[in-house]
Amino acid sequence: MTNKYMYFIANWKMFGGLSTLNSLSKVIKFLKIFKNSNKTKIIYCPPSTLINPMSKKVMNSKIQVGAQNCHESLTYGASTGSINPMMLKNAGAKYVILGHSENRESGETDKLINAKIKSATKSGLKVIFCIGETLVQKRKKITKKILSKQITLGLQKINKKKNIVIAYEPVWSIGTGIIPKPDDLFDTINFIKKKVRNIKVLYGGSVNPKNINELKLIKNIDGFLVGGASQDHKKFIDIIKKTYN
Ligand code: PGA
Repeated sequence: MTNKYMYFIANWKMFGGLSTLNSLSKVIKFLKIFKNSNKTKIIYCPPSTLINPMSKKVMNSKIQVGAQNCHESLTYGASTGSINPMMLKNAGAKYVILGHSENRESGETDKLINAKIKSATKSGLKVIFCIGETLVQKRKKITKKILSKQITLGLQKINKKKNIVIAYEPVWSIGTGIIPKPDDLFDTINFIKKKVRNIKVLYGGSVNPKNINELKLIKNIDGFLVGGASQDHKKFIDIIKKTYN
């Protein structure tokens, strides 16, 4: 059971169409009657195509909308298929996920992620900065070295971190149903918080209505980044409810 202010971020990845937005009505309704609502920050990150319609749908509710990535440029430009932070903001986004391992895997470097974080914060978006080690790195016992590098390079020359939260997402945990051992997770989150003072650190990777009972007991976690389970509104609501039970 927690009494803390907690983030619950829904990462829909490449899923969802206009009709999927109907499920949000149930979440909005739930948040209106949930007694711990004022202790939650709920952010939905749908595919870019849904940012604008979703923003309209959640207007006057507790839910805020975020994007899943952005281009590093602050201005318009000839970059086919890209969307810059200013455009996301214009569409209704308040947040953006950056550095997700699925994008790192397809070539995003720490340097590029750093440029994106700078542009996003400059344009007024809040950033959910993802870091995490792969299974090979975990087996080599270099988790802290990897996280340290991702943090140092990703946050280079960024003094104001007020609008940044970190999501620790071990790559081996994403979509696998496997979560870290509680002691390890506590220790890693602690390490991140020592490295970056006064920052919120969330956990992401296979969070679901079952393992939330174990995860919520880890005192230094400030919230959860939920992928698969967030597409099912019942599961997402269950995760929020159980965190405070
Ligand atoms: P998952 O994804 O909850 O489906 O493991 C989390 C994420 O990739 O952000």
